[in-house]
Formats: sequence, structure tokens, C-alpha cells
Amino acid sequence: MKRVLVTGGCGFIGTNLISYLLDHSNWGINIIDDLSEGKLHYLTSLDNYIDDRVKFIEGDIRDEGILEDAVDGCDYVVHLAAQTDVISSINDPFNDSDINIMGTLNVLEASLRNNIKRVSFASSAAAVGEQEPPVDENMIPRPLSPYGASKLAGEAYCSSYSGSHGLSTVALRFSNVYGPNSWHKGSAISLFIKQILDGKTPVIYGDGNQTRDFVHADDISMAIHSSLTRDIPSSFEVIQLGTGIETSINKLYEMIKTRLEGEGIDVPEPRYAPARAGEIYTHYCDIDKARGLLRYEPTFDMEKGIDSTIRWFIKHQLF
Ligand SMILES: NC(=O)c1ccc[n+]([C@@H]2O[C@H](COP(=O)([O-])OP(=O)(O)OC[C@H]3O[C@@H](n4cnc5c(N)ncnc54)[C@H](O)[C@@H]3O)[C@@H](O)[C@H]2O)c1
Repeated sequence: MKRVLVTGGCGFIGTNLISYLLDHSNWGINIIDDLSEGKLHYLTSLDNYIDDRVKFIEGDIRDEGILEDAVDGCDYVVHLAAQTDVISSINDPFNDSDINIMGTLNVLEASLRNNIKRVSFASSAAAVGEQEPPVDENMIPRPLSPYGASKLAGEAYCSSYSGSHGLSTVALRFSNVYGPNSWHKGSAISLFIKQILDGKTPVIYGDGNQTRDFVHADDISMAIHSSLTRDIPSSFEVIQLGTGIETSINKLYEMIKTRLEGEGIDVPEPRYAPARAGEIYTHYCDIDKARGLLRYEPTFDMEKGIDSTIRWFIKHQLF
């Protein structure tokens, strides 16, 4: 039986990935997470949680000894643990780089020492920065935030471990991911739903016409799984992941409003505030490379995805 180490496995994408792997593979799963953001109960409350397949280790990816224990006996590594907040990265770029760059280096070193077959690294559209969409893998990256810069550095280290040591690595550039287990996230979909359920008025920064490529965590999980198992011609690849479809924040708000009003919940009009620095204005990506290399095809449109997310938030309001 194969085993995978998921760093940051108690976080939003991590717990969705673990749920996906429990259903779609017979792999054992090791998790390392310092629980700075992730929640153990996201994991243990998964409908399909099976504790004899999942081993949790609490610790920091920057701690070499704990990481060594976590990676022991694994075939693959999915590296999700990170400082993920753009604004925090602007306020404290040193903390961001320490976790995202030094932490990634530590994960690559541990992977090399333990003969890991492939490392799948969670990069971000933020690494490429503001570009004329659709964004593809051939554009010259111009990160707008320290977070984007640290993700780009992580990609560079993945490339270098492939080039210097032959370690097989894939950097997946996620666009905006949403879905269940995102109560702690500060991203638009989770914030809007939480604030409305709390009786608060959500804030839209800028004019609301800025666009994002929103992709459901289940589709991202499918792509991560494929990134470990598919034959990939080169020992380092960067792959853009999204849906290829852009949605404005105003349109997104309307969709959430309609769905929540359908539950009999009062939804206020949003308040508008000045746009924030370091954020991309328009974004959607070209997913042809993911289609080709990973046989990736998104299965959630926005309506189905928002529905699954809102159902989770309503069911887990006490999280
Ligand atoms: N959510 C998105 O829209 C999105 C978009 C692009 C890229 N990503 C990337 O995907 C990955 C997962 O993001 P997420 O949205 O699930 O975030 P998340 O914060 O929910 O998950 C990250 C997890 O890492 C853990 N962690 C943080 N620092 C750690 C450390 N030093 N040692 C051990 N664990 C640590 C946190 O406790 C958390 O459980 C991140 O690398 C993020 O940059 C996410």
C-alpha cells in the first residue's frame, strides 16, 4: 500500500484532499500540521474519516526532526503547509518567507533523504501576479505580494531539486479555491457566507468588477492526486489549475445572496471600500496543460460549488 505525507493536512485544502484520497485510493496518509490555522476536527468530522489509514503528527514543517518522522515510510509528498494570507505577507514578509521558503526547502530536503517518488507543491496564481488573462504557464511571473514571491521561490526550489538531484516535483498554481472546511479562511466566498450567517454586512474591496477563477476544492483534490500518479514527461513541471472561467466579485455576491435567501436567510447589500494593495484585478487561467498532463477536468460549476459550500457552512455553524 502506498503512503502519502500531506503537509498542512488539517487545513482547508488538506482536509478536502484527505477526504478525496480516502474515497479514491487505498493509500495510507500521514499528516503534519502545526494547527496554526487548520483544525483537527475538520479531519475527524469528515464523513469518511478512517483513523487507521490516517496518521496525524502535530508539528512545524521547519522542525527537521518532526518532519523526518512524518515523511518516514511515505512514497509521495503533497506540500500544502504555508502562510497563505496576502495581507499578512505584506505586513510581515519575514514570517511569510520563513514558513513558505525555508519550510518548503525543509520539505524538499526530507523528501530527497527519504527517496520520495514525487513532491506536489501547492503554488498559487499569486506567483504569476497581474497578467493579461487567460494566465498560462509561459508568462513571466511578476508577483504583486511577498506571498506571491515566496510561492514563486518555492517553485524555484522545486525546479532546483529536480535539476540538482533528480527529485520529481510538480508545482500546481491554484487559482481561488473554495469549498467545505473553510470556516477559518479569509477568502471572499468563505468570508461572505460567514458574515451573512453572523448577521454582518460583508465588505467588497474595490468596485466589485474584479474577477477571479473560483475552483472547487474537490476538483483541486482530483488534480493533486493525478499530479502524483500520472506519468509526467519532465521531472519538474508548473501547472496552472482553475476552471478557465472568470467570475466578478459582484456576481459571486449575487449568487451567494440568492442561495442563502433560498434558505430564508436575510442578506444585506454589501458595503464597498477602497481596493487593497497587492491584489490582482482580473484573473482566470488557461487549464489546457492540466487537461493534457493530469487529465484534469473541473466538475463543479459555480452554482453546484456554492451550493455544496453553503450546505457545509450551515451544517457546521459552530466551527
Ligand atoms: N485556498 C486557496 O484559494 C489557495 C490558492 C492558491 C494556493 N493555495 C495554497 O494551498 C495551500 C493550502 O492552502 P489552504 O487554503 O488549505 O490554507 P490553510 O491555511 O487552510 O492550510 C494550511 C495549513 O498549513 C498549516 N501550517 C501553516 N504553517 C505551518 C507550519 N509552519 N508547519 C506546519 N503546518 C503549518 C496550517 O495550520 C493549515 O492547516 C497553501 O500552500 C496555499 O498557499 C491556496
